[in-house]
Amino acid sequence: MHPAIARSLAAFPAGCNGEFDLPADMATVIARGEGCRLWTVEGRELLDFSMGWGSTLPGHARPEIVAAVSEAVTRGANFSYVTEASLAVAEEIIRVSPACEQLRFCASGTESTMYCLRLARAFTGRPKILKFEGAYHGAHDTGVASLFPTAPPDYPHSTPSSAGVDAHGQNNILIAPFNDAATVAELIRQHQHELAGVIVEPLQRCLPPSPGFLESLRTACTDVGALLIFDEVVTGFRLAYGGAQELYGVVPDLVAYGKALGGGLPIGVYGGRRDVMQWVVEKRMTTAPEAYVWTASTLGGNPISTAAASAALAIYRGEGVYEQLHELGEYLRAGVGQVLRDLGVEGQVLGDGPLASVAFTLRQATDYRSSRHDRPDLARQLMLNLFTRGVFLNPMGTKLYLSLAHTAADCDEFCNRMTDALAAALETSSPDRREPVAGTVGS
Ligand SMILES: Cc1ncc(COP(=O)(O)O)c(C=O)c1O
Repeated sequence: MHPAIARSLAAFPAGCNGEFDLPADMATVIARGEGCRLWTVEGRELLDFSMGWGSTLPGHARPEIVAAVSEAVTRGANFSYVTEASLAVAEEIIRVSPACEQLRFCASGTESTMYCLRLARAFTGRPKILKFEGAYHGAHDTGVASLFPTAPPDYPHSTPSSAGVDAHGQNNILIAPFNDAATVAELIRQHQHELAGVIVEPLQRCLPPSPGFLESLRTACTDVGALLIFDEVVTGFRLAYGGAQELYGVVPDLVAYGKALGGGLPIGVYGGRRDVMQWVVEKRMTTAPEAYVWTASTLGGNPISTAAASAALAIYRGEGVYEQLHELGEYLRAGVGQVLRDLGVEGQVLGDGPLASVAFTLRQATDYRSSRHDRPDLARQLMLNLFTRGVFLNPMGTKLYLSLAHTAADCDEFCNRMTDALAAALETSSPDRREPVAGTVGS
């Protein structure tokens, strides 16, 4: 074992910074990345289909991002105040994000959704949030509510998918199945006087919204005076320059961004209606404390992250960028579907834009329950086999993230390695082990 790997296993629980649930003998340490390739300390080259969990949409070490960061860092790393770089990025987001009249920066997607939730509760004076089963909104207590439940559904009861969360707080989280407009409408009607907002990943993991579903959320929220929150941490600047709002044509009251916005550097944004965003104005702390929401982020909007964001946004504005991302996503999904068919495996490929995931089931996948693997053992073995065959991805079975650095040839290479990895997994996994467990989770 390379000494750095042994040190990593000693320093980090499970030898990772979260979610990479690899057996110890597969753990590694990354030395560098370029384009869609990574190199480990042992000198292994890996084809990256995780791409910093989607944060490095431009590709690793993309020259424009490197130049922007290198230049910014010479002028001071952080002032915790507005700079020309953060102002320019804010103005550009306001220009392209239909929901965003005003915004503030923070440093991660977890923070950005957390502030949206707090704003919704404060603004409406109501305690409850409706979230969808299997949706991830970051590591806070709401983000992990009913993230990967295994017990039969008991809507709207919330089950924390982590120990240590505030058990009382779970009573203020209503859980509903994604894409089930009738159930959601009924829950919203029943809880209308307590409901502060509905938070949704417009593309939940890799499950597209059914026609009319997001519109129905919009209408139901407006009808009862609850706020609609889009978690665009994954979809923002990825499905379209204007994110899911542009692609699916629905405008929320509040929106959270992160990941691709920073081009790989830490960033988060929460924004939306001006009348709601005004609740963060500090003067209210003394003039109207009941209408004041605390927000603060030491590193939010720092000059380096926002310089990277500026460079990333300029890249995303390039001609044909979203056509390229959508075409490549379709190409990858078609290729992966062919691999499943060639090997006679019951499964389907989910996703939209430059995102894909495999669900080992033939059920029509519309929500968390229907998209769960029938053969979780096969899914897990496939992930590990891909890893040993030089594909870097989150072995918990999350999405495949494409970037602007990937080509059709990289997708072909992925599919070839997947054919080999899946064939080997089929040899070791028993078709009779069909316990229903979590589908795609995490980042
Ligand atoms: C939809 C969604 N929201 C929020 C988050 C949290 O973002 P971060 O890991 O930057 O805190 C994630 C992370 O994967 C996510 O997928």
